[in-house]
Amino acid sequence: MGMDYSRIEDWILREDSFDPEKLGKCEAVMSLGNGYLGLRSATEERYLNETRGLFVAGTFNKFDENEVTELPNAADMTAMSLTINGEKFSLTEGTTEDYTRELNIRTGELKRSMLWTSPKGTKVRLAFYRIVSLKRLHVIAQRVEITAVDSDVKVELKSGINGKMTNTGSQHFSDGDKRFYDKRIIQFVQTTGQSKIDFVDTTVHKLELEGNVLPLEAEVYIEKREIFAGYTVEAEAGQTLVIEKYSSVYTSRDLDVEGKTVAQLQELALETSKELESLGYEALREESARQWEEEVWNLAPIQIEGNGMDNFAVHFAQYHLRLMVPAHDARMNIGAKGLSGEGYKGHTFWDTEVFLLPYYIFTDPKTARKLEEYRYLSLPGAHAKAEHNNYKGAMFPWESAWLDDGEVTPEYMDVDILTGKPNKVWSGFIEQHITSDVAFGVWQYSVITGDEDYMERYGYELIMDTAIFWASRLEQGGDGKLHINDVVGPDEYREHVNDNAFTNYMAHWNMQKAMEYYHLLKEEKPEIYERLNGKLHLDEAYGAWKEACEKLYLPTPTEENVLPQDDRYLSCRDIDLSKYKAQEHVGGITRDYNLEQINQIQVSKQADVLVLFFLLEDIFPQEVKKASWEHYEARTLHDSSLSLSTHSVLACDMGEKAMAYDRFRKAATIDLGPFMGSSNAGIHAASFGGVWECVVYGFGGVRMLGGNLRINPSLPDEWTKLSYTIIWKGQKLAVEVTKGTVSVKNLTGTKQVELEVNGEKCVL
Ligand code: BGC
Repeated sequence: MGMDYSRIEDWILREDSFDPEKLGKCEAVMSLGNGYLGLRSATEERYLNETRGLFVAGTFNKFDENEVTELPNAADMTAMSLTINGEKFSLTEGTTEDYTRELNIRTGELKRSMLWTSPKGTKVRLAFYRIVSLKRLHVIAQRVEITAVDSDVKVELKSGINGKMTNTGSQHFSDGDKRFYDKRIIQFVQTTGQSKIDFVDTTVHKLELEGNVLPLEAEVYIEKREIFAGYTVEAEAGQTLVIEKYSSVYTSRDLDVEGKTVAQLQELALETSKELESLGYEALREESARQWEEEVWNLAPIQIEGNGMDNFAVHFAQYHLRLMVPAHDARMNIGAKGLSGEGYKGHTFWDTEVFLLPYYIFTDPKTARKLEEYRYLSLPGAHAKAEHNNYKGAMFPWESAWLDDGEVTPEYMDVDILTGKPNKVWSGFIEQHITSDVAFGVWQYSVITGDEDYMERYGYELIMDTAIFWASRLEQGGDGKLHINDVVGPDEYREHVNDNAFTNYMAHWNMQKAMEYYHLLKEEKPEIYERLNGKLHLDEAYGAWKEACEKLYLPTPTEENVLPQDDRYLSCRDIDLSKYKAQEHVGGITRDYNLEQINQIQVSKQADVLVLFFLLEDIFPQEVKKASWEHYEARTLHDSSLSLSTHSVLACDMGEKAMAYDRFRKAATIDLGPFMGSSNAGIHAASFGGVWECVVYGFGGVRMLGGNLRINPSLPDEWTKLSYTIIWKGQKLAVEVTKGTVSVKNLTGTKQVELEVNGEKCVL
């Protein structure tokens, strides 16, 4: 497919002035990674307000009994202290000209350059380059060029490994073995306190003056939890000193080195260092950029013509969607902030199934399968949660971390603005829709990919086991119906509600799907039926599902066609929300009202009923969707980054292109936008999936409906053309949409594909 990827400026995210008070934004949005490592783009020289962060997927640790498990902030290897003619290099001192910091999202390289004049007048031109290799999971490479502009300079470098990093104060690591091999290679072993994961961090420097490699004569600094090397080099006016630093991280949890002792990991890391040193920065950058091309840009090309920012926004989403996904290991999943910050502790939410999974299913099914295997592998935690609450089957944790951790949502967070007491986080107890979201993810994955092997090994069981939970969860009401009382639905501003429409309909869907598969297995796959019947007592469960589906209360639309979000929402009072709708920062309402008061107001944090319309598109008529969209959108503050994309996609479905485009633009600027504090704790992973959903599901019109592929595109006025690819049951389809045309080509062409385009049935 002829994508025009040639214009370099289409791929650059640029900062053109430095503000030491607002470091968090670039650290997060410009972060680097490969799904194994996630590195915040904190600068080489250190600043007071920085938040350095290096995260290794899946290495969860619990700091103490009062805290939940979190992804620890690993030792930092990117900081370098530079002293030039006796003055410490810092952009808060002296004067800085020609400053830029750029992330090239196409190659995954971060670059920073400037002309710096020290307070005493020494002038140097500096350029910093950095990658986290997409080709070599364990590797970070850096290059620094320092040119003496008009006088000789003495450069002192102090650089190494700093194991004093914490997660806002929680120190997850022991002090450990520090080594300095051949007076060159620095190594530090640390172990997490509770989960006992060993981290082997290794780094080596290479210095070159005018192209000549300098012999390394280091001064060594070893202190508690840190080890550094010091080098001094003199350069004449006009000369350029190049410092390259190659670092690696291996942990005892890594699958690719499974079974190795710490000593063997140390040995392996040493060899890695030598190899990296001999390859050099440029070769490492090249091979990693090629990997980006193959794994992302050629695999899932998308092009929007007509608006450069929108085109960038969808590529930027794809960039982060690759950074955040642990495609190498099914024992871990995507964190709500990816690997770009401490926010949400690296935990996985429903964000994966509803907002992120579609991207991977349609573009990279192998990775999607890993995400879905994770849910199967974490069944022990789901069983433990059900048992703990006296239910049956698999009750998935609202927040998940390591496979058998079970529920890891913190119990308390923030403070009640009226009582001053800690606010209880009810999600971990009663935000139960996650269980059917997981089942829905399984179904989506299996139908779109046609991966029957997954279903036979894991999928059927997951759908049955989650349905068993739901049947045990329902409560008999006085009206002869079964109810789901006391829950939090997707809209987290409403706690302890009964019959949340999303929860009830999705539970119903989950049990129906289990019944459908029960028949299918019995008739077509008797061995699997036997195996699962032995394990889950399907015959008995079937009776419970049948009764539950018949009796489960499903909220119906009002006379005005509004589907009630829960049993109280529509009778709560309305207040003037304009102040909060116009807010710069999310959560303004929680500073004026406590959660109990918010519960009495018709106000939503995020899309709720609308997510139901999005997932189960064909069960509600258009009038209900439209009336509900209007009712709830007026009352939704989009205080969660998950909200805008759903509104945009649904507005597209309703033919409201201008509204859809407006919500898409807002969704696209959640991390890219001008609010400098909003990404400090990390990027908003689900919003990137949401941006892709806006483009491909919304304007691109793609949907899997009842097992069939439908494409009903409709471009916003601002675009002239949209091209994308999707993989449907193993066949890669190239879709091109212009104002009046849609073309779909089967690029794989090994199987016939049936689909519906703009209401017409077609066969490719
Ligand atoms: C949202 C949840 C979401 C979580 C993690 C919360 O603020 O309300 O729906 O799962 O963030 O992204």
